[in-house]
Amino acid sequence: MSRSFLFLLGSARTGGNAELLARAAAQQLPSDTGQRWLDLARLDLPDYHDRRHSTEGWPVTTSDETLLWESTLAATDVVIVSPLYWYSLSSYAKRYLDYWSKWLSTPDPEFRAKMSGRTLWGVTAMAHRQDVVAEPLILTLHHTAAYMGMRFGGVLLGNGSRPGQVGTDEQAAIRAKTFFARDAPIARFPYAQE
Ligand SMILES: Cc1cc2nc3c(=O)[nH]c(=O)nc-3n(C[C@H](O)[C@H](O)[C@H](O)COP(=O)(O)O)c2cc1C
Repeated sequence: MSRSFLFLLGSARTGGNAELLARAAAQQLPSDTGQRWLDLARLDLPDYHDRRHSTEGWPVTTSDETLLWESTLAATDVVIVSPLYWYSLSSYAKRYLDYWSKWLSTPDPEFRAKMSGRTLWGVTAMAHRQDVVAEPLILTLHHTAAYMGMRFGGVLLGNGSRPGQVGTDEQAAIRAKTFFARDAPIARFPYAQE
């Protein structure tokens, strides 16, 4: 199966640092690898309402929700491009993942089985200079991959606050060159690891 990357931008501003870093990493992908870029802040994805166990039924599905669902299922690799907000994912990125809870059962109950074996990646930018504070974001994505039976490629971290500032993070630029070439093992919860 040829690779196809879905980049989901989760910043609350356009042209931000996380996107810049993700584009630098994506430049290194082979030319026959598909790339689709969607900006979650520009899509009509309403706040998630949990109707999994309700007789009420789900709210009307927007065309952008369908676009995201179809694009997710069409991708071998899903890349969450989210700035570090309050040490974790942005609300846009988190909301997209909340919809996975709906998609587990509808419109196709095979969602998890189909995503199993595919790869989840993260790219983030942050003002803090100590990478360790991004652990909540990294664990969120890692555990999401473990729950879904997916591979986890890790998170590419870059430092910056003003738009474009990540461009001065030389270590991030070096990491970006090889980020998508790294091994992405099947994610396992810590208690399930041998
Ligand atoms: C709502 C909000 C929360 C933030 N929380 C953090 C944080 O917890 N840690 C941090 O290092 N930087 C934090 N920042 C700074 C951003 O991570 C930083 O400006 C980053 O470069 C933004 O990425 P972007 O340009 O892709 O939007 C926060 C910024 C905003 C707007």
